[in-house]
Amino acid sequence: MSRKVGIIGVGNVGSTLAYTLASKNICDEIVLKDIRENILEAMSLDVSQAASAASSKTKVSGVVKACEFKDCDIVVITAGIPRKPGMSRDDLLLTNAKIMQAVVNETIEYNSNAIILIVSNPLDAMVYTALKTSSHPKEKIIGMAGILDSSRMAHFISKKLDISSDEIETSVMGGHGDTMVPLSNFTKVQGKNLSEFLSEDEILDIMEKTRNGGAQIVKALGNGSAYYAPAYSTSLMVEAILNDTKETYPCAVLLNGEYGYENIVAGVPIVLGKNGCEEIIELDLNDEQKEQFKNSIDSVLELTSTLDQKFF
Ligand code: LAC
Repeated sequence: MSRKVGIIGVGNVGSTLAYTLASKNICDEIVLKDIRENILEAMSLDVSQAASAASSKTKVSGVVKACEFKDCDIVVITAGIPRKPGMSRDDLLLTNAKIMQAVVNETIEYNSNAIILIVSNPLDAMVYTALKTSSHPKEKIIGMAGILDSSRMAHFISKKLDISSDEIETSVMGGHGDTMVPLSNFTKVQGKNLSEFLSEDEILDIMEKTRNGGAQIVKALGNGSAYYAPAYSTSLMVEAILNDTKETYPCAVLLNGEYGYENIVAGVPIVLGKNGCEEIIELDLNDEQKEQFKNSIDSVLELTSTLDQKFF
């Protein structure tokens, strides 16, 4: 692998991701792409100089033309508009689906072997758009959300218990929206079940805070959405693929019978390696979680059936 990572869209998430990857010194090259030439130039220079400060070998450049954005091993798509206070991720559907279609077609033309990581919202519907727009293998189109949502859950548990996040293991499944399914019974704190530390009501409160984690930041920012945690979470996926770590992370992928669903994208634990999604892990969910997962799938289906009517 030449370890070349392309990032489309150098807004807050794209540029923070570039900075994170460059400072981690894990790829040879990062190529940024955006339609806004001034911002692209600024971000390419700024991240290059951050790489120098970090004594990182990663080279960073910016390109505007699709034909110059080529031969990447991984392409991260962050293009699209973010939500404003009061908007749900779903309100972005049609605008971002149009952007996604254009971006995916161009990307695949010049990066036919790339693993494509999608970050744009509404996340699951954007992964579905990318899959339906192209004939790219389904294992190579993966959405980032579950790592972010799990990190938020770990953060809220850490704050509540005053225990460091690195001693907390969490997982969140389902769509990246208000119906996501934080898996409290798969959550471990210092290797023990969460229920040994918190009451049922306290666990429900953590789950609610997790579902609302993105909106809380949108509200406080007033203009835009979170970017440090989304970017860092994406960097973990890039790292797992480049280094072929076979790490298990919750990510949004097309289900083909797993968990009993077909032709729908949702967050599930997957094994990430050099081939992209190398395996979908089927957890043994209890009846309540199965019901919540179904509810989450239904809300993704509402969006994807709108997309089917309008685009596919
Ligand atoms: C969030 C957005 C990026 O959850 O979806 O913060």
